[in-house]
Amino acid sequence: GLEQDLAGRHVVVSAGGTREPLDPVRFLGNRSSGKQGYALAATAVARGARVTLLSANVELPAPAGADVVRVSTALQLREAALKAAVDADVVVMAAAVADFRPAEYAGGKIKKVDGVDPAPVALVRNPDILAELSAQRQRGGQLVVGFAAETDDVLANGRAKLTRKGCDLLVVNEVGESRGFGLDTNAAVVLSADGTEVHIADGPKEDLADAVWDQVAARLP
Ligand code: C5P
Repeated sequence: GLEQDLAGRHVVVSAGGTREPLDPVRFLGNRSSGKQGYALAATAVARGARVTLLSANVELPAPAGADVVRVSTALQLREAALKAAVDADVVVMAAAVADFRPAEYAGGKIKKVDGVDPAPVALVRNPDILAELSAQRQRGGQLVVGFAAETDDVLANGRAKLTRKGCDLLVVNEVGESRGFGLDTNAAVVLSADGTEVHIADGPKEDLADAVWDQVAARLP
């Protein structure tokens, strides 16, 4: 990425993981650190892009030169993504979005009562932001990129997910207890709707980010 091959382009990257509140002090969340999304934002800036970083609960320094929009829940991320995507050339959904949120939000802290079993937590589905952005492109020629973390049958599951989501590229990581989340390195396969399959060896998240931008840049109109 020495070339400014994203100059004049607006790219939107989501990073981190959503938190779905149960009450004012508790939430359902996930272990996403935001490192991969932040690396995507920083490398896109380095390649000349205007970058909007939709940051969900990330404790990392903001990448220099990116416009950071902070969100917390999946619904907030959806709003921010649809808005930012209106004039975007590329949207990369690297955030871990909760599939479900609590059906009800308790305005006060949920209390334990001696001798009383806790009430089950009812969940409702969150919208699939990636599928929505893919189905309703916010701009002609826009590229939509998703991420997927798979623990088994990585390629077959990734290919099925690419089709289901309707995105142009899907970056599939193999995750497990010692891979992916929270670490500084990542190995992945970038699958494309045009049928290509690019394997990226385990390495720094910046290298994976640059490899993703290479695939994006090659497909921009
Ligand atoms: O279905 P799965 O969660 O494995 O898909 C992961 C991809 O879909 C990621 O790019 C993630 O950002 C996106 N996603 C989304 N909205 C959801 C769930 C996932 O945009 N509700």
